[in-house]
Amino acid sequence: MGLLWLWTCAPLYIVQALADTDLGFQRNPGLEVDWMLGEAGRMIRAAEEIKPWRTPGLQDEPARPTVPRRFSADIEYVTFESGFLQTGRGFFAQDANEEAMRVLTVRHTLGMSQLLNNHTSLLLGNESYIINGGDLPICKKLPFFGQQQFVDLFAWAANPAVSRYTGERVVAGRACSLWYLLSTNQTRISLCAAGNTPVELNVTLSRSGTTFNFTYQFDRLKLGSEVPEQLLQKPQICDSFAPACENGRGLDPVPLDAYIFHPGMSVEDYNIEDQNVADLAGYAAFICMDWLFHESPRLGHNYTLISRYSLEISPSFGQYRPCNGYPDTIPPGPSCVPGDPRLVGREAPFSAGEGELRCAAGSPLGFWYQLPKGGRCSTGHRPSKEAWATGCTWSVQKRLKTIQQACLLRNHNFLQYCKADVLEDKGFGRSMKALEAAFASEDSSLGGCADVGEPVAQDSESMVVV
Ligand SMILES: *[C@@H]1O[C@H](CO)[C@@H](O)[C@H](O)[C@H]1NC(C)=O
Ligand SMILES: *[C@@H]1O[C@H](CO)[C@@H](O)[C@H](O)[C@H]1NC(C)=O
Ligand SMILES: *[C@@H]1O[C@H](CO)[C@@H](O)[C@H](O)[C@H]1NC(C)=O
Ligand SMILES: *[C@@H]1O[C@H](CO)[C@@H](O)[C@H](O)[C@H]1NC(C)=O
Ligand SMILES: *[C@@H]1O[C@H](CO)[C@@H](O)[C@H](O)[C@H]1NC(C)=O
Ligand SMILES: *[C@@H]1O[C@H](CO)[C@@H](O)[C@H](O)[C@H]1NC(C)=O
Repeated sequence: MGLLWLWTCAPLYIVQALADTDLGFQRNPGLEVDWMLGEAGRMIRAAEEIKPWRTPGLQDEPARPTVPRRFSADIEYVTFESGFLQTGRGFFAQDANEEAMRVLTVRHTLGMSQLLNNHTSLLLGNESYIINGGDLPICKKLPFFGQQQFVDLFAWAANPAVSRYTGERVVAGRACSLWYLLSTNQTRISLCAAGNTPVELNVTLSRSGTTFNFTYQFDRLKLGSEVPEQLLQKPQICDSFAPACENGRGLDPVPLDAYIFHPGMSVEDYNIEDQNVADLAGYAAFICMDWLFHESPRLGHNYTLISRYSLEISPSFGQYRPCNGYPDTIPPGPSCVPGDPRLVGREAPFSAGEGELRCAAGSPLGFWYQLPKGGRCSTGHRPSKEAWATGCTWSVQKRLKTIQQACLLRNHNFLQYCKADVLEDKGFGRSMKALEAAFASEDSSLGGCADVGEPVAQDSESMVVV
């Protein structure tokens, strides 16, 4: 079902994404969903504080909707949060008194839509969690995109100081009254309500010229005690990090051919501690996701290089931790979401699959990894069989090569392979070949790219390296 857009909406929707200066999530596909929820809340709070302006209501304005404070409903969602059209089923629950909200959206994975990702965002007071992995759930506690705080996404429509009636609509066969949050800019939040029952909530945010939006259509509501309390509480899995994979304990380290995007402003930008890397397949998926939806003119952001490393890692994986930043980026990094400080984190791209495929033998889209600073083996050492207990879980054998990302993206027109792969929906085979070729030679006619090496440290004594 969710496949349809690929056929009906081709060519792909290409959306420009943001500069990464104001948003930390840009390099962490999946987090934008939670960023948007938080941002919608901030818009509503801002409107309530500013009370933008009063406009005379339409003559025959209906009674204002007072949406139940505690309810749940199945939903149908439509969103461009990640830069491309996603639609599907989901589930929504809130209790405004408890300041709790849960949103589940079942998402099809870019490039392989039969691979599902059940993404749950849980907002509890001023804390927020992402839960993926289906029956083997993994919980990530988010650091912020600014202070996260529960905000009732519906109550504003009852307040004449911040909302406006704009007429009657029919949504999915149901008659409803349309209310808009008053806004001083391009933010658009609307609620179509049948009496006090929400029918459709639309949120559109505009940042740096890019539009982000989502729509939830609500099925029949369950009210009050019909909503299980457990849905609105922090699940136990959020109190601890996933333990080291059982099937990886007691094993020798395995080689990892790892790729990473990074800035090239200083020697520090070549440090892969507390960074995310990926294997060839996982990295092809990552670049496609990261770049497909913001082609020119954003080629200029500071992650200008791609390096390939030969690593040895213990297969006793912990949960994957998205990381961002380098010491000389703004904001400075690296910083990662909380997780085990020593185990190498692993997940399938976009957190797809049961248990995010953390301990799986294989993944149709390869893997993403996180290399915790605290797990790096000291120089000359490699992970032992007992790495999961002793904590030296990864080591660098060699940086193999570093290229300009523009060589791959511009000279070798990488995105054309991404687009073809996404349309075919069978993984990122073409993109992988192009990425492999860029590192395989320096011969441009074979798709190769020049090795740009390392930056020359200004102070040669500070020449640390990888
Ligand atoms: C839009 O207005 C809200 C307040 O109504 C403000 O918080 C927000 O930052 C504004 N967004 C932009 C992009 O200016
Ligand atoms: C979050 O809420 C808790 C309890 O309400 C409070 O103790 C804590 O200080 C809050 N944290 C922040 C960062 O506001
Ligand atoms: C996602 O949820 C659906 C039910 O909504 C379930 O059938 C499926 O197994 C789940 N899959 C994953 C990977 O979470
Ligand atoms: C959502 O954003 C996309 C991409 O910018 C746009 O094409 C679409 O019309 C928007 N939908 C709504 C309902 O605003
Ligand atoms: C809400 O979004 C849906 C599609 O996502 C669109 O069809 C509908 O017109 C939007 N409604 C309003 C009031 O913008
Ligand atoms: C990008 O690099 C320039 C210097 O090359 C620096 O001034 C700027 O702060 C960097 N931007 C970010 C977001 O790191």
